[in-house]
Amino acid sequence: MRLAERQQELDAALLDFRNLWHPQPFREIRPDWCEQWPALSDELLALPDDSVAFLNDDLPAALGLLTKHVPAVAAIAVLTELPTMPRQILAERAGHWAWEIPGRKREQIEAFAAAAGNTGQPVLDWCGGKGHLGRLLALTWQTSVHTLEIDAGLCESGSALAHRAGAAQEFVVADAMETASWPQSGQHAVALHACGELHRRLIQQGVAQSVGQFDVAPCCYYRGVAERYQPLSDGLQLSLSRDDTRLAVTETVTASPRETRQRDRAMAWKLGFDAWRRQVSGEAYRTFKPVPDIWMRAGFSEFLFKMAEREGLSLPSACVAHEFEARGWQRRHDLMRLSIVRHAFRRAIEVWLALDLAVYLEERGYAVSLGSFCDRHLTPRNLLISARRV
Ligand SMILES: C[S@@+](CC[C@H](N)C(=O)[O-])C[C@H]1O[C@@H](n2cnc3c(N)ncnc32)[C@H](O)[C@@H]1O
Repeated sequence: MRLAERQQELDAALLDFRNLWHPQPFREIRPDWCEQWPALSDELLALPDDSVAFLNDDLPAALGLLTKHVPAVAAIAVLTELPTMPRQILAERAGHWAWEIPGRKREQIEAFAAAAGNTGQPVLDWCGGKGHLGRLLALTWQTSVHTLEIDAGLCESGSALAHRAGAAQEFVVADAMETASWPQSGQHAVALHACGELHRRLIQQGVAQSVGQFDVAPCCYYRGVAERYQPLSDGLQLSLSRDDTRLAVTETVTASPRETRQRDRAMAWKLGFDAWRRQVSGEAYRTFKPVPDIWMRAGFSEFLFKMAEREGLSLPSACVAHEFEARGWQRRHDLMRLSIVRHAFRRAIEVWLALDLAVYLEERGYAVSLGSFCDRHLTPRNLLISARRV
């Protein structure tokens, strides 16, 4: 399927199912879809904990469950299925190129380099950190590389690593959002996990400067989004809020059993406080400032008291604390289950965002491929937009 066609179909499908993925169960205790599909909400609310963990992590399984109740959702799975990018074999290089790179990061970089493919053009490594990717490309492609990075300390460490490895790599300390000197015409611009506005800036500036080739693996799409995401390409109907763009990168973070217990308790307590706030103010969900860690270490009644005081609410008596703590745990139980529906659309939102960049490049005369450059276990941000000027 052509990218523009996939984009139009995904745009329409996400719009159709907006009432499933847009509501956040921590704001809306029972999203409207619970009434529309009561059997779905009953099945979710009855799930045991291990199924909840599994379904929050396994998107195809979550979409499968949803499809049982809402068959048309099957289209989302088809539209988000992308090919694995073809990979070239990387030239032999001495093992010491990878000094200081943790194992999984090294594998990500190697997979990106193999999928990006050598064009023979000089390389610009955009927001390159210590320039590990740029160093690998300089060594395997035998080409000159400029790594642009805002942090002078990272540039200094990267320069030392490049020197040790004998790589033709130079560092440019610059703010990617400000510089008018980079990227340059005829360059091959690579960006591995340059966040939101940084990868969008590369693409827009790069098109203006006639960059020859782009290989961009985006991440943190929400960075630099004010209220609403501003698409680069034309003709989209869906409008995403900043929170919607965050959904694209909401991953279940692997944690130790102790960290998991702490995280669960923090969520239950905050929801217990939210229940108190709703009761005394009569208002719907309102965000609040981060909670100091130390407040989570005493008992719930002390926590509730401190939160109510800080948020200017009437203060709870000690005898209601037990009830609101129990309400918090119950809400956490339900929220984890109802969120499976929203989370099932994570990849679809991410693909929509990546397609926006890919189609923008196509509209401006590039031949573009979009696919995954590595397995999800290496990094969930495994989409690669590869665009060649024709
Ligand atoms: C997630 S890291 C990715 C680094 C590298 N590409 C990699 O994959 O290892 C993002 C990098 O962008 C850099 N950065 C953030 N804001 C920047 C800006 N305005 N201009 C240039 N670099 C920036 C950060 O310092 C950081 O090194």
